[in-house]
Amino acid sequence: MNVLDVLKDDHATVERLFSTILATSATDLGRRNQLFDALKEAILKHAHAEEAVFYPALRDRQPAHDMVEHGIGEHHAVAGLLARMNGIPADSDDWIDTLGTIREKLLDHVREEEGDIFPKARQLLGDDRLDEMARTFLSAKEHDRPH
Ligand SMILES: [Fe+2]
Ligand SMILES: [Fe+2]
Repeated sequence: MNVLDVLKDDHATVERLFSTILATSATDLGRRNQLFDALKEAILKHAHAEEAVFYPALRDRQPAHDMVEHGIGEHHAVAGLLARMNGIPADSDDWIDTLGTIREKLLDHVREEEGDIFPKARQLLGDDRLDEMARTFLSAKEHDRPH
């Protein structure tokens, strides 16, 4: 597995979590909150490790540099929306609507990563580098604390 496979797996896991949470009942808030915590952690750890390991390798050349800057801006926007969820009652329509907005934003972001940034990474970084980066990425996800 190279780093692009690992990133894709994470993207799919997050999308599955969104579907599961959006299908939860407002009467089972324990489960809804627990799943939301797992989702938040999955997203923040992924974004953090991406910024620590994957994006820097693409930053020194155009147009990859601008794609990466754009991606970081989207990470911040999503982190802001996730933080805002804490102030919304989890059994409200507003909570579900805001979660739906976050999902849409992330789907766009993932489409850009997989559609624009991944081809650039394949072009700029060799197979060995992409393989090695899978290990570094997983270790950054495991050990670093997202801010
Ligand atoms: Fe990603
Ligand atoms: Fe990302």
